[in-house]
Amino acid sequence: KVVAVIMVGGPTKGTRFRPLSLNIPKPLFPLAGQPMVHHPISACKRIPNLTQIFLIGFYEEREFALYVSSISNELKVPVRYLREDKPHGSAGGLYNFRDLIMEDNPSHIVLLNCDVCCTFPLPEMLEAHKKYDGMGTILVIKVSAESASQFGELVADPVTNELLHYTEKPETFVSDRINCGVYIFTPDIFNTIEGVSTQWKDRGSDTFSMNRRLSSFESLHSATRNAPTHFVRLDQDILSPLAGKKQLYTYETLDFWEQIKTPGMSLRCSGLYLAQFRVTNPHLLVSGDGTKSASITGDVYVHPSAKVHPSAKIGPNVSISANARIGAGVRLISCIILDNVEIKATGDYNSKLGITILGEAVTVEDEVVVINSIVLPHKTLNVSKKNSVTA
Ligand code: GDD
Repeated sequence: KVVAVIMVGGPTKGTRFRPLSLNIPKPLFPLAGQPMVHHPISACKRIPNLTQIFLIGFYEEREFALYVSSISNELKVPVRYLREDKPHGSAGGLYNFRDLIMEDNPSHIVLLNCDVCCTFPLPEMLEAHKKYDGMGTILVIKVSAESASQFGELVADPVTNELLHYTEKPETFVSDRINCGVYIFTPDIFNTIEGVSTQWKDRGSDTFSMNRRLSSFESLHSATRNAPTHFVRLDQDILSPLAGKKQLYTYETLDFWEQIKTPGMSLRCSGLYLAQFRVTNPHLLVSGDGTKSASITGDVYVHPSAKVHPSAKIGPNVSISANARIGAGVRLISCIILDNVEIKATGDYNSKLGITILGEAVTVEDEVVVINSIVLPHKTLNVSKKNSVTA
């Protein structure tokens, strides 16, 4: 049996994603018309003998309640949201819920970061993991040497794929192979995390070493500063020390992979998922064959409840969410249009949007041109915008 765990973080972790995630938690922000977390969840469907999917985070339970119940029904696999009272780090959060995760006595745990966009080759990784016979297998990708330092850089044995060296966001270049935030573990991972915390406790938790381990969030909140810490990070505290010990192995993907930390990246990732739908879920894309009478170019998603005027021109890379209304003659290119947005166009001139994200319930008046912009929820735009954030 296999269980999947998706680390969704919490409001303080999503700060770089603001202002977009003010109304919706970042993991529920739509990419290609589906919540961000929906993409890893639907990839889990391909895992043989999957019994449960857990989302672990420190968002309010109610924010995920609706999504979790609808996706459980759709997948016919229980999806549960487990709420941490405060951040415990990527490994600490997992460890906290070990009893629930081990409930079905799984042989493997698939662990996923929520804010990555890729094809999630999970069954293939699982097969590789079984052959390696280690405690964990990490998905890796080759990136440019310049961008590698934003991630965990690693070195693997080219023959055995064993993880030989791991450094999290190093200051000097180590390798152009990076950690994708997608893992397969055996349940031994829990003993390893426990071992690390016990070591720390034995060494005594003086304020210096404890603060060093706390997240910036926690060190800002003195109330938690002196509490016994169970803040364990998977990368620095677990992967780094285990490298070269024949316990961790790597699986390299040649498909696309991106990290989604900023609103700008969400547009790129929305486009990547739309392009993937062409192969995996073509029924989700609107085709230009006249089924929706608006003129469609490239990959476009339109929610069934959205209304698009037949004279509108939509695409490429456009995703339109529930109850949005797109008026006559409107031109949309590279956009994410959130719920209840209205783009009006009734006069001689028409509204035009390029590379833009419109927040929930935004209204764009007639004759308005919006390019390269982000507009916060509940705004009405009656003047044109370029390269701006409207708050
Ligand atoms: N539940 C919970 N609790 N989730 C958390 C916590 C926590 O305390 N801290 C982080 N997360 C979640 C985040 O939401 C994210 O999905 C994942 O765990 C990793 O977040 P970070 O620990 O902040 O690391 P990062 O995103 O900067 O980098 C990690 O991922 C990269 C790939 O995207 C590292 O593992 C890098 O090495 C890796 O390249």
